[in-house]
This record gives sequence, C-alpha cells and structure tokens, in this order.
Amino acid sequence: MTTNPREVLATLEAEALAAIATAADADGLEAVRIAFLGRSEGRISAVLRGLGSLPPEERPAVGQEANRVKGVVTAALEERTAALERPDGPASGTDLTLPGRRPWRGGLHPVTQAVDEIWHIFRDLGFARARGPEADTEWYNFEALNTPLDHPAADEQDTLYLVDSVLLRSHTSPVQMRTMETYPPPIRIIAPGWVYRRDTYDATHTPAFMQIEGLVIDEGVTFVDFKATLGEFARRYWGPDTQIRFRPSFFPFTEPSAEVDVKRVITRPDGTREDTDWLEIMGAGMVDPNVISNAGLDPERYTGWAFGMGPARIAMLKHGVDDLRTFFENDVRFLEQFVR
Ligand code: DAH
Repeated sequence: MTTNPREVLATLEAEALAAIATAADADGLEAVRIAFLGRSEGRISAVLRGLGSLPPEERPAVGQEANRVKGVVTAALEERTAALERPDGPASGTDLTLPGRRPWRGGLHPVTQAVDEIWHIFRDLGFARARGPEADTEWYNFEALNTPLDHPAADEQDTLYLVDSVLLRSHTSPVQMRTMETYPPPIRIIAPGWVYRRDTYDATHTPAFMQIEGLVIDEGVTFVDFKATLGEFARRYWGPDTQIRFRPSFFPFTEPSAEVDVKRVITRPDGTREDTDWLEIMGAGMVDPNVISNAGLDPERYTGWAFGMGPARIAMLKHGVDDLRTFFENDVRFLEQFVR
C-alpha cells in the first residue's frame, strides 16, 4: 500500500465512485458518504486532516487535490441520490441495466425460401409462373397425363379422393395440362404448389408437401435444351462446379423419362474441397406426345420437356436437415435459424 498522498487520493476517488455506482438505495449511499467523507472516520476527510503532518511545500497541492476529490465524490453522491429517487430508477425495481427485449423478427419458412430461390433462377432464364387448383379431377391428375385410372398411382391407397372423380392433386403435373390448354406455345412455366398423398407421416414423407413443376413446350425443343437448362439451373443453385446426370426412369407422361441427380462441390471449413455423392433432385423427361395431343396441341409440331421436384427435399439437402417433420412442426427455435 502506498503512502504517497496523491496516490492514496486517486485510489480513494476510484473506490468511492465504484461504491456509489453500485449502491442500491439511499441507506447504501449514506454508508458510502460516511466511509469516505464522514467527519470523524471518512477516509478522504482523514487525508485533509493529515495535511498538517506533510512537509509544508507539499501541503497546498495535496490539499487542492483532496478538495477536488471531495467535490467529485460529493457530486457523484448527489447525482446517484437523484437517480435512485426517479420513478424509473433502480429503487423502483426497474433494472435499467438489463438488456432490452429484441422485437421478434419474422422470416420466410425454409421451404418457402427454397421455392423462391428456385423460381427466381427459372424466372431469370425466361420462365413465367403458373398455378392450378389443388382439388382437381381424375382427368387432369391422371388420364390427360397418359396415366390410366388402373395405374397404381390412381389407387385410393395412394390418392386422397374428395367426391367421385374429384381428388386432391397428387402432383403438380396437372398444371402442365391446364397451361397448355390456356396459353399458346411457346410455353416456359414454373408451377410451385401443394400436393397431397395418402402417405404416413415420417422422416421422409408427409401427406401434404410442396412440388415445383416445370414445363417447356415449343417448336423444335429437344433433349439438348432440356439438359442445358437443367444444368444451368443446377449451377446457379448449387454453384458453378455442380455436375448433373440423367438416369433412365419411367413416368407415364414423359418419353424418354429421367431422374436427375446432382453432384456438388462443397468447401470444408479448412478450405479443402470435396465432391458430394450423387443426389436425386427431380423426375423429368421429354413430354409424351399423347400428353401434348390431350391438351389439344399438335405433337408433330410441338415438343417439350418437363420436370417435377420437391423443394422440401432440396431444402433438407441444403441445410443438412434429416427429418422432414421439422419443417412442419414449426418449433421457432428451429425456424429462427433460417431468418435472414
Ligand atoms: N409428377 C411426378 C411425381 O409427382 C414428378 C414428375 C416427373 C414431373 C417427371 C414431371 C416429369 O413433370 O416430367 O412424382
């Protein structure tokens, strides 16, 4: 401990101000006043009283400093007293040092974000947005799409029927038909929407889910256009090094049909790059001539391609979500990670 009176005063000043700042009420402040400025025991008062024992040449400067500290501490005591008396002061029970409550910030659901991003990429490639009814007929959902009603997909085991031949659409493909009937080619559309199936709710299935349909119909549209457009989409969505591949498949409404897979390049936190496995992103194909003629267009003149994809699956891949149900349960602690 120093005995240099200036250093003693500096320490006393700091201690007194700290004690004043943390005093909870008027009694606490009075105790601080007595401890530092009290006539008999006050530690600052003691320095003033001890001036006489200092060498005469030091007395004026130390006396001046002691009076300055006394003034500062007195002012701080008054200020804190006033603050404690204010209606919203600490004595009122309101703790002004508590951090404020942030207002809630809303955000788009992660699946909605995926739909928007996918749609915006196709919009930039010249596609328009289309929609169709969620309750549709067997004709639009199956027959017009070259799917006979004895096809397993049309079975009541798989499809939710409303009345007679009216059902909840089991895919967004009926929007293809309705668009071809309504608008003359060239057609380039994206149709996101809800679809319904008689599925058990589990980690990878829900009875209602989003699909995004794509359709291109024009004169002279070939498989090259199909492959190039989907490749461009994949590179814009997943990055320029993304590869795509087409695996032969079967859908009644396309010929040939394909399942499209992507292989992405991911960059690890340490900067190294790694290829992912092939991931299936959609069903697709060249539109079957029967579908084109069912829509009243001439399949000799028009050709096209189409796809259907699940944005929830794409959002799961993107964010590393392994249970589809988290997208439906809407726990805010989960959803808030996607607010941006
Ligand atoms: N409708 C199909 C389904 O729900 C997905 C699909 C496959 C759509 C191929 C298409 C397509 O347009 O060409 O499983």
